[in-house]
Amino acid sequence: MNYLFSSAMDKFQSSAVRDILKLTQGKSIISFAGGLPAEELFPLEAVQEAYDRVFAQGKGVLQYGLTEGCTPLREALCERMRGKGMNLTPNEMILTTGSQQAIDLLTRVMIDPGDRILVQEPTYLAALQVFQAAGAVVHSVKGDEDGMDPEDLAAKLKQHQPKFVYVVPTFSNPTGYVWSTERRLSLLKLCREHNALIIEDDPYGELQYGADDHFPSILSLDEHPHGSAVVYTSTFSKTVAPALRTGWAIGDPAIIRHMARAKQAADLHSSSIDQLALYQLLSHFDLDAHIRVIRREYGARMKKMTTLLKPLAAAGLRWNEPKGGMFLWAQLPEHQRSDVLMKEAVQHGVAFVPGATFFAENPKHNAMRLNFTHANDEQLTLGVERLAAAMKVLQNA
Ligand SMILES: Cc1ncc(COP(=O)(O)O)c(C=O)c1O
Repeated sequence: MNYLFSSAMDKFQSSAVRDILKLTQGKSIISFAGGLPAEELFPLEAVQEAYDRVFAQGKGVLQYGLTEGCTPLREALCERMRGKGMNLTPNEMILTTGSQQAIDLLTRVMIDPGDRILVQEPTYLAALQVFQAAGAVVHSVKGDEDGMDPEDLAAKLKQHQPKFVYVVPTFSNPTGYVWSTERRLSLLKLCREHNALIIEDDPYGELQYGADDHFPSILSLDEHPHGSAVVYTSTFSKTVAPALRTGWAIGDPAIIRHMARAKQAADLHSSSIDQLALYQLLSHFDLDAHIRVIRREYGARMKKMTTLLKPLAAAGLRWNEPKGGMFLWAQLPEHQRSDVLMKEAVQHGVAFVPGATFFAENPKHNAMRLNFTHANDEQLTLGVERLAAAMKVLQNA
């Protein structure tokens, strides 16, 4: 049989992260590669109780549900979002199968083949895959630790007239950088001027390590009551557990209605059992106290990793100390390649993601993304030792 796949499949790049995870199968590799939360922090008992409460409601909970998502959870989430300065009603929200589906649905409702999208440089790989599969032309905007460079952004908005600008402004994947309020405001102003929508992807915003830090979402800074310039998406994947596959998008009702139509075609609705369980969880479990535990633990793991990395500075390795999230961004000296190091590192029993994979254009070959949330204390120590050994081999080669 000659399988006649669609031309869109040619545009689907295989995920470098998944390819690396395949390499590590069956070997005792310490992985700094995936974006996995710490399993030991999953609130297993509270989640189990939440499902028990749902099943106690009877057979009706097994019925089909609304495409937009279960109403009590949307109402509870709106309340939570209001606490973060985002004023909204449930008709401005849709529940999705993870925030990944929110990115996919938005792309379906906004993008025709050939349309332009701007992203920050570097950016979230699986969003790039969605955009490329939709036939979009993706351009990246230069930036630094404070966010997109307003001058480059203004020039590229003018030059490319993108349908939207996709950003992860708070503890970005892959860099862990957090945008300044000034840069958030300048993005809003410039996108309004050029009629480009902002897609604010915020899976990590709750994972800040400093108790007093405040990083306002771009949506909360958008003061226009109607015709919001921002579609905001977030998820329970990092605060509760990714297996629940529950995320949400907030935006103008016109956009949410279109997303609901696209979602009907995709899957009718996301699992209502999981949504009902999350509603029970929010009603009977102190999620904020749980998030404080995660923040403390991830902050400690980040400190541990950066302390362990210190001796590697002599070999030219540079990295940032993120204020939240799950990743740090490390850079080898300019002439060295992180994909070459990766092959050696796997031989030594440690994995990470080479940075080039996160660029839509002009890849940086000396960068790499290190995840510090999944490995425990002992694994962090051993993993960095192995990384150091792999770097030594390359330097002596
Ligand atoms: C920036 C970013 N957006 C979206 C997602 C998707 O998360 P989920 O679909 O589990 O909500 C991730 C997952 O790691 C991510 O890093």
